[in-house]
Amino acid sequence: MKNNSVTTSAPGKLLLMGDHAVVYGYPCIVSAVSERIAVTVTTIEEPFFELDALDVNIHGYKKSMSEMGVGVIPRDVIFAELAAKNFIKSFPFSGGISIKTHSQFSQSIGFGSSAATVVSTLAALVKLFHTSIFEKQIFLLAKQTVLDVQGVGSGFDVAAALYGGTLVFQNKGETIEPLTISAIPLIVGYTGIKADTATIVQSVAQKREKEKGKVDRIFEAIGKLVEEAKGKMLEGDWERVGRLMDFNQDYLRDLGVSSEKLESLISAAKNAGAWGAKLSGAGGGDCMIAVTSQDKRAAVTAAIDHAGGTVINVLPGEQGVRAET
Ligand code: PMV
Repeated sequence: MKNNSVTTSAPGKLLLMGDHAVVYGYPCIVSAVSERIAVTVTTIEEPFFELDALDVNIHGYKKSMSEMGVGVIPRDVIFAELAAKNFIKSFPFSGGISIKTHSQFSQSIGFGSSAATVVSTLAALVKLFHTSIFEKQIFLLAKQTVLDVQGVGSGFDVAAALYGGTLVFQNKGETIEPLTISAIPLIVGYTGIKADTATIVQSVAQKREKEKGKVDRIFEAIGKLVEEAKGKMLEGDWERVGRLMDFNQDYLRDLGVSSEKLESLISAAKNAGAWGAKLSGAGGGDCMIAVTSQDKRAAVTAAIDHAGGTVINVLPGEQGVRAET
């Protein structure tokens, strides 16, 4: 039988520096993490789009291919469905497709499940149909798909899912520079609160409308911190990176995107001796990150836990999207 099924997987991500400012063209540093989303795409004869996402209780979702992207689409389906729709718009074929997704992480922790799903789905379709397409075209198609759903976003999460590693990302992806860093002494604490990225990004846009000068100065300052952090990460000076993360967190607080729970986990990590700590991503909830020396690792982990956070064991710098079969 012809090979009519392909499985791919893409990593989640953590935003190390530059959150929010990256939406306005400033650089950020993002790292892909060792928790992945796998997508299996199978061609079927009948012209239907089918999807099973058992982790989130989606069983037997089915519609005709011509209806893709139309009507009310459940949140847990929409990213894969629109990725497939956007692919087929560019590379039409007759017949249908069946998709199965499997995630190693909950979509509520802010690891970028949407971007990982979109990138993984597109990569599977490209492989399945032997499509001749550059990686950059996959990036643009994936970024467009995320924007079609969310309406906002810089695309940094798409870059992490696609290319993996640790990247400096700028100007909506015009610059994507891999950083060769051996190990990042990172601890990740989950607040237990799901953040709505689009709403928070919009709240920052509203703040900028009211106080343009102030908010633009914050973005510029964050951009400078990212530039310095890049050099210090390459040198392995994590103590200085920690200080820079603290400054970055001060600016994020000024933007109004931190939260009580994030602040309490960040203070707990700092009081236990972390070099620095900040929120990661849009804010409001999701995860915080801390960098720490090896001898303080256990104390920082315990402090985050004690403050009501859940420490998530992930390794940064993970490989980007890959074929699993
Ligand atoms: O909330 P997350 O993990 O999707 O991160 C959002 C990061 C922002 O800079 C606030 C938005 C973006 O798309 O760059």
